[in-house]
Amino acid sequence: MTAKLIDGKAFAAELRAWIGTEVAELKAESGVTPGLAVVLVGEDPASAVYVKNKGIQTREAGMASFEHKLAPETSEADLLALVARLNADPAVHGILVQLPLPQQIDEQKVLAAIDPRKDVDGFHVVNVGLLATGGAGLVPCTPLGCIMLLKDQLGDLSGLKAVVVGRSNIVGKPMAQLLLKESCTVTIAHSRTRDLAAECRSADILVAAVGRPEFIRGDWIKPGATVIDVGINRVPADGGKTRLVGDVAFAEAVEVAGAITPVPGGVGPMTIACLLANTLTAARRSVG
Ligand code: GUN
Repeated sequence: MTAKLIDGKAFAAELRAWIGTEVAELKAESGVTPGLAVVLVGEDPASAVYVKNKGIQTREAGMASFEHKLAPETSEADLLALVARLNADPAVHGILVQLPLPQQIDEQKVLAAIDPRKDVDGFHVVNVGLLATGGAGLVPCTPLGCIMLLKDQLGDLSGLKAVVVGRSNIVGKPMAQLLLKESCTVTIAHSRTRDLAAECRSADILVAAVGRPEFIRGDWIKPGATVIDVGINRVPADGGKTRLVGDVAFAEAVEVAGAITPVPGGVGPMTIACLLANTLTAARRSVG
């Protein structure tokens, strides 16, 4: 059996096109142009690429993009002052502070300083709490993208057994909350889980978010399961080059799963598209 490939790239392109039409409508109706501010501290090359792509896609959707690039030695006080300015700026509806931050800055303190209504990452404790209690907050972008792909693939998720491998605040925990909201039976597995392979084998939906290249093997997957691979790992390839692989051993998994997201071109493109969706949501709510 060969699994169906879940085309996140195509889905994300359609979502961005839809967002573009909604942005145009919002502008026409209320005169409001959704604005996204992205803050990058330091010179991490991978983060710089993400930030550049975010800027391009934000403008393509008809939104305003504000980029703030700060020196690696920026103090916590200076970053907090910038966040306060962005909170007060009516042209800014979404604020994203790119993580990780340099070690002199307390990440939790910065995330807590962002106005929850502008927290398009969904990382503020208010939004984490709203997600856990069924409220209408802003939802972290990567798990939101995963749920969209799952619902598109499977329709009603109710009653399915979902296993999320990874317990990060950015992916694992919010992913589990979203699956619970869809009435799945949810297990969060992690590095200390006993017999992780057996746990994974029980899943109708398997979400891999561990950050370890090709960690999840083909024989850990229940035949016909839907596999969502959140991992983006750079590994050495022939000729001194590198290549991207997920957290799932794709060549093995594709023979067992019913459907699977490839890496690249699966979950990755959904994250920025959902960031734009959250910015549109925040802008709409600011209009009232
Ligand atoms: N760094 C890696 N992923 C993310 C993300 O989703 N949001 C932010 N702010 N930083 C990140």
